[in-house]
Amino acid sequence: MAHLLAPWLRGRERSLLRRLVNRVARRDVMSLAGGLPAVELFPAETYGAKLCELLADPCSVQYGPPSGALKEQVALLMQGRGVPCRPEEILITAGAQQALQVAVDALVATGECVALERFVYTGIREALAPHSPRILTLPSSLDDGLDVEALERYLLAGERPRLVYVIPDAHNPLGVSLTREKRERLVVLAEDYDFVILEDDPYGLLCCDGEFEQPLAALDSERVTHVGTFSKILAPALRLGWMRLPPPLVDTFAAVKEAGDLECSRLTMLAVGRLLAELDVERHLELLRSTYRSRRDALLEELADRLPDGCSFSEPAGGMFVWVELPAGTDGERLLERALDEQGVAFVPSAAFVDVHDLDAPANAVRLSFSTLEPESLRRAVAKFAACL
Ligand SMILES: Cc1ncc(COP(=O)(O)O)c(C=O)c1O
Repeated sequence: MAHLLAPWLRGRERSLLRRLVNRVARRDVMSLAGGLPAVELFPAETYGAKLCELLADPCSVQYGPPSGALKEQVALLMQGRGVPCRPEEILITAGAQQALQVAVDALVATGECVALERFVYTGIREALAPHSPRILTLPSSLDDGLDVEALERYLLAGERPRLVYVIPDAHNPLGVSLTREKRERLVVLAEDYDFVILEDDPYGLLCCDGEFEQPLAALDSERVTHVGTFSKILAPALRLGWMRLPPPLVDTFAAVKEAGDLECSRLTMLAVGRLLAELDVERHLELLRSTYRSRRDALLEELADRLPDGCSFSEPAGGMFVWVELPAGTDGERLLERALDEQGVAFVPSAAFVDVHDLDAPANAVRLSFSTLEPESLRRAVAKFAACL
C-alpha cells in the first residue's frame, strides 16, 4: 500500500511532538509541554450567547461569503499593532496553520529553496513537506532570535530562497523576539534579494512587558505575508486565523484555500465577529497579558533558583514559552522519559522542533510552557524538572 502514496509521504512518520501529545496528556502528569492557552480565559459565555442569537436564523449555517464584520475586526487588531490595514487585505483562514499552508502552496514550487530556523514551529515543516523544498537552516540567538547575518551570508554566497519564515514575537519554541534593527534588515534583504517573508505572529498581541516592536508587515506591505490567529487570544477550537495580503493577491490566495475547505465555518466567523464587536478587546487582552505575566515570572524565577550550572534559558517578553539549554551531553528526549517516569512532569525536547534529517542538531535543550499552570503549580513543576537534571 505504501508504494501507492505520493513520494513525499512514503516512509514519513508523525512528528515527535504529535506522538508526545498522548503521553503527556495523562492526568497524573504536570505538563509544561503544550502550547495551549489557559482555558479559564476563554470568553466562552459571551461566545455561547452569540451562537444562540445567530442560530435563530438558519442562514447563519448556510454556505456564504466570508464575514465582512470579522475582517473589519481583524483590520482593527492589525491597526492596533501599527500595521496600516483595510478589511479588503484580509483573508480569513482556519487558524494560522491553514494560513501557513495556503502561503506555501501559493508561493513555493516543488524543490525550491526556503529558509527556516533550526529550532522552529513544527507546523511550518508539515506545510512545506508536500513541496519537498530545499531548506536553508538558520541559527538563532537566545537573546534576539533569527540570525539575520547568517541569512545575509547565504544570500551573498548565491542562495536565493523563495521564502523566509519568521516568528517575530515570542517565538515558538524559543520564546525570543526580533529587535527593530533585525526586522528592518530583513525587509531590506527581502527587497534586495526578491524573496517573501512569511511572518507568523500568533503571540504578537500577548506581550507581557509593554508592546512588541511593530510587525514586519508594518515595514513592507508587499513582501511580507502576515499571519495571525484567534487561537491564542480567544480559543483554538474556533479554528480561525487570518492572512494580511496585498489586495490583488487576496483572491489568488482565496482560491488556494478553497481547494482545501471551500470556506471557514460561516457560523463561527459570524459569531466571532459579533463577539469582538461586543467584547472590550483591550481589557480582555490585558487580562491575558497579566495572567501570563505572573506565570512567566514564576517560571523564570524558579528556573533561576533551581537550574544547575551549565544551563541557560531565554527570557521571553510574552507568549507562552521558555527555551532551556541544558549542559552539553544531556539528551532532552531521554530526560523526558525520566521526568515522566520519576517525577510526573512533562516538557518538549528540542528534537521535536528540528528537521528529521538534521542529525547534527544539538539535543540538549527543552521547551517549557508557562501558559496553563498557575504560578504555584509552575514552581512545583520546575522543582520536579530540576530534580531530573
Ligand atoms: C508559531 C505558530 N504558528 C502557528 C500555530 C498554529 O496556530 P493555529 O491554532 O491558529 O492554527 C501555532 C500554534 O501553536 C504556533 O505556535
